Amino acid sequence: GAPVTVDISALQDGQRLIVEWRGQPIWIVKRSKAILEALPTLDDQLRDPRSENADQQPAYISEANPELRSIKPEISVLVGLCTHLGCSPEMVAEIRPAPFDPEWKGGYFCPCHKSKFDMAGRVYQGVPAPTNLVVPPHHFADDATVVIG
Ligand code: FES
Repeated sequence: GAPVTVDISALQDGQRLIVEWRGQPIWIVKRSKAILEALPTLDDQLRDPRSENADQQPAYISEANPELRSIKPEISVLVGLCTHLGCSPEMVAEIRPAPFDPEWKGGYFCPCHKSKFDMAGRVYQGVPAPTNLVVPPHHFADDATVVIG
């Protein structure tokens, strides 16, 4: 499929744009400073905090920001499909108690079989999803333009 170009100039903290690329939903999420600070504190609760399991993200993403899984720290780009059986996870882009976790630091929750991911799409331990959410190939054409693919 052709690359998809997305204008993110209006994206605010905690907001998500959803576009389609190769028949998959792609999430572009702007993360708050509080969320970015929380991410590195979660590593010991995660199955693969540095995304060493292959095929979850392009190599240039691992090199730039291993815990944030992004090129620009605040902008996260993910394939919006649970890595268990492909349901669509829900987003809680704030640090606040959640029905499924009073200590929730923000992230994604899959309603189908209760898999949990942080705001970098990193999977928590002890849930059915085997791997982190996938980061698709992408780059920034300029500060406000993301190109997927
Ligand atoms: Fe998400 Fe099963 S499809 S937990």
